[in-house]
Amino acid sequence: MHSIHKPFLRSSTSGALFTAACDVIPGGVNSTARAQWSGWTPYPLFVESGAGPRLRDVDGNEYIDYLLGLGPMILGHRPPKVTQAVVDFIQQRGTVFALPTADEAVLAEKIIAAVPSIEQVRLCNTGTEAVLYATRLARAYTKRRKIIRFEGMYHGFSDGVYWSKHPSIDKAGPDERPVPVAQGPGMPSGVEDNLIILPWNDPQILADVIAREGDSIAAVLTEPVMCNTGCILPKPGYLEAMRELTQQHGILLIFDEVITGFRVSLGGAQKHYNVRPDLSVFAKGLGGGFPVAALGGRREVMALVANGTVSMAGTYTANGIAVAAANAALDELAQDGLFARLYDVSDRLRDGLSAVMQEAGLPAYVVGVGPLMQVWFATQPIHNYRDAERHADQTMFRHWWEGMLERGVLFHPGAYENLFVSTAHTADDVEQTLQAARDTAAALARKA
Ligand SMILES: Cc1ncc(COP(=O)(O)O)c(C=O)c1O
Repeated sequence: MHSIHKPFLRSSTSGALFTAACDVIPGGVNSTARAQWSGWTPYPLFVESGAGPRLRDVDGNEYIDYLLGLGPMILGHRPPKVTQAVVDFIQQRGTVFALPTADEAVLAEKIIAAVPSIEQVRLCNTGTEAVLYATRLARAYTKRRKIIRFEGMYHGFSDGVYWSKHPSIDKAGPDERPVPVAQGPGMPSGVEDNLIILPWNDPQILADVIAREGDSIAAVLTEPVMCNTGCILPKPGYLEAMRELTQQHGILLIFDEVITGFRVSLGGAQKHYNVRPDLSVFAKGLGGGFPVAALGGRREVMALVANGTVSMAGTYTANGIAVAAANAALDELAQDGLFARLYDVSDRLRDGLSAVMQEAGLPAYVVGVGPLMQVWFATQPIHNYRDAERHADQTMFRHWWEGMLERGVLFHPGAYENLFVSTAHTADDVEQTLQAARDTAAALARKA
């Protein structure tokens, strides 16, 4: 296949800024997901501003934005009520006090009301922190040391879990029992002895491991929808099987809802799929674009935080900005009919993209739930990370991404990321996106 490469990157100023940034910032960016090695070649777009569902680069080009900051901007960019709440808090009250405010319990009550399994909740700043606390708490509560995590998932960048995200499968052991592969050098040795890496979506493999090693397993840590290897839905009954198996063996079930929380529904994926974990982790959608995260769950487990057995600390936890933003974001998200409208717009996009692929005769399909989706260029179904590695055509995805960007539609260049829809996207935005998709798909089909 030839490249459809045209000047898909219309922002030459981004290139100049990137070159200059590389001199003073390692890799020119401040996160791996923005780096060249994550697909942003020849350079990432440099942003001027965002407004609602649109983003403007430094050359003034406008894009319909499905990157959405990798998830936080579920209300679109600069959501007026969240922005105003933050500005008001800063101007009228302050930012960091190292003492509680009444607003924190108000927020906790909103989270508890929205998410079925949460009886108590603590705030922190990022998803990484929240997962770190969740696994520590699970080990303390169960007095066991091992955590099951699944190949292809991402749970933040802390030493304990930054393993087997996207390992090269020839180095990652057998399909049924992968070996832990560190994200890179620098991890303290021995961490991996506390991890069991499994393929996702296979209840029998999970049952077998739990039968053999259940007594040493503190927790099963999972995204309820696999959102870090594209978008992979749980097979019917899989989450329920996880719940049952963990419950039978005194293992805590931790849902990492950093992406799905306050997005798949107001109550997250756990409400959508009606499965209640013991602990849950939230970030992105919770803050409407401001850094805030949460760990919540059963009162009996959270009691170890309450009595100080497990310490959750942090100078910036529950700072005024984070709490004001989350309180306002949850008020917005709790509005009557909001999720119905979000699903309507998102379904138009997902169904529309599916139709575009089919009409163009491309070997591709779209997987997702609500405002979360990805296009797989594949002919076989993808149920876990190794399926994706074996069946997904990354080159086709790259051409698709370039074609869409060239036509003013922005999402992450990685096939293992997602398209995010916000409450600010309209049916018109979707129609424009689908027109770009038709043109891109036609170009792909001609070159295939
Ligand atoms: C499922 C999941 N868990 C945890 C994290 C880490 O969150 P943060 O980037 O806020 O540390 C991410 C980030 O993308 C994520 O997708």
